[in-house]
Parts: sequence; structure tokens; C-alpha cells
Amino acid sequence: MTTDLRELKATIEDALDHYLPAQSPIAEELVDAMRYATLSGGKRLRPMLVCAACAAVGGHVEDALAPACAVEFVHAYSLIHDDLPAMDDDELRHGLPSNHVKFGEANAILAGDALQALAFRMLAEAPNVPAPTRLRTITLLADAVGWQGMVGGQSFDLAAEAQRLELDELEALHAAKTGALIRVAVQIGALVGKPDLSDERFVLLGEFAGRVGQAFQIIDDVLDVTANSDVLGKPAGSDVAADKSTYPKLLGVDASRDRAVHLLDDALKFLKRAGLAGGMLEELARRSVEREF
Ligand code: IPE
Ligand code: IPE
Ligand code: MG
Ligand code: MG
Ligand code: MG
Repeated sequence: MTTDLRELKATIEDALDHYLPAQSPIAEELVDAMRYATLSGGKRLRPMLVCAACAAVGGHVEDALAPACAVEFVHAYSLIHDDLPAMDDDELRHGLPSNHVKFGEANAILAGDALQALAFRMLAEAPNVPAPTRLRTITLLADAVGWQGMVGGQSFDLAAEAQRLELDELEALHAAKTGALIRVAVQIGALVGKPDLSDERFVLLGEFAGRVGQAFQIIDDVLDVTANSDVLGKPAGSDVAADKSTYPKLLGVDASRDRAVHLLDDALKFLKRAGLAGGMLEELARRSVEREF
């Protein structure tokens, strides 16, 4: 299979379509909302990282597709809930009305819930992955997106509105709300590709991807200030309006960008130490920082 990122993205989008329910005899709007959230767009960074990590350690990209979809389903759910009036209250996503605007708040909440359940099912049933590895990926994803990971970070993010965080607190916020899922995407991909991956490489990949996740969120924060809504496909200036705790608020735009570049450099050192520099993982890491949207 391909090592071309454009082709990989298309392959992932086909798989997402395939694994999503097509219709429901009892809750058609719910399924429509799940499909809309997942298929309406997005960079597909996290599922590409799953596949790239799998390929990097010598695995078959095909075997990473179900786990990659699991990670993207969690991401899609997190964005639905992130846009809700009770959270960031944003009405635009991927250049279209946010899920709750289109389907109503109840269906949007439920579509997120259902996508999360589907994600864990995908890991439990991932084809060609040994059962102990499937179990391990389930635990890893649960830890990455639960109270101590993404959801914990989202709670921290809301509590930190109109506050002034110290740099180490902001780092912890970003590590949880965004870093954890990006980090686990790489770790899951590597385990699927090589179930007997050494602990050392597992840790090095975590150090790599955790920094990519941090840098990714810093650039997301920067783009909220510097880009426009048409390019972003989501409301520019939303963080400023909500007085979010962000890097640009704490350090300014230029220092924030510098920090992201520095994190990327550091990340790539860990990738090199893992013996995996130069492939799709490196390219995806660079794109996480060098991007316009
Ligand atoms: C947006 O993530 C949410 C953050 C963690 C910053 P992405 O920018 O990866 O969202 P899509 O999937 O490409 O729209
Ligand atoms: C969201 O961060 C992180 C998630 C866990 C979804 P943001 O609130 O900055 O994401 P955007 O900017 O709305 O995409
Ligand atoms: Mg948010
Ligand atoms: Mg948001
Ligand atoms: Mg943002």
C-alpha cells in the first residue's frame, strides 16, 4: 500500500465511510449526525499518524485502518462536543454549520457519544491485530481520552477561560486536551505494526508525538489569531472572544510560533533516536507546524 500522504488520506476517508453506519431503523438523524461530523472534512492528521507509525515499524498500513478510524471517530466526537453552546459555542466547522446547528444539541451530544462507543468497538474488533495488542490499544485510548486525557483537558480549558495560567499549566492543558490523542495515535499505530515493539521505542515515540501534539495546539491557537474563518473553516477569533488561555495570549504570536518550531525540532530528535526519521511520520510532524489551517 501507499506511502503517499494524499493517497493515504483518501484511503482513510474510504475506510471511515465504510465503518460508519449507513442508516438506522430507529434513529436516522443520529446516524446522519455521526456521518456529517466524520465525513464533512478535516486534515485526518491523527488517523494518518496511526497508519504512518504502523508503516514506520514495518507493519501493513491495511492493518492500521480500523485503529486509525477509531482514533478519528474519537476526534470527530471531541469536535462535536467542543463546538456545543456549553463549551466553545462555535457555529462553524469544516466550513459548514456545526453539528448542533444542523442536527440540534441533543442529536449532536448523542452523535458524539455514539462515535466514542464505535471507536472502542473498532479497536476491539481490529482485523489482523493479535488480541493482547487489541486489549492494550483499548486501554491506551481510554487513558488518552478520559478524565486524565482529552476530556480532562477540555474541562481544564473551560475552567481556564478568563484566567492567567503559568506556562507549565498551559503546557499541561495542551498536553491533555490535544497532546494525549495525537500521542496515542502514534503509539497505537506502532503497536499494531509491531506488537512486540520494545518499551524503549514505545516511550521514544510517545516523546516524539507528545511534542508534535503540543506544537499542533500552539499553531491552532496562533491561527485563531492570524487566519480568517474562510481559510480555517471554523470561527477565527473564537479563543479571543472567549478569553481562552492560549499561547498567543501568554507569549504573543511570534514567541508562540518559535515555541512550536522548537518543539518540532525536539520531537524529531526523539524520532531519530527511535530510528524512524525521514518517512511519513516526519512529514506529518512538519505539517503539524507548517500549516495555514
Ligand atoms: C482541531 O483539530 C482541534 C484541535 C485539537 C486543535 P484539527 O485541526 O486536527 O481538526 P480537523 O480534523 O483537521 O478539522
Ligand atoms: C479543541 O481545542 C481540542 C479538542 C479536544 C477538541 P480547540 O477548541 O482549540 O479546537 P478548535 O479550535 O475549536 O478546533
Ligand atoms: Mg475548545
Ligand atoms: Mg473549539
Ligand atoms: Mg482552537
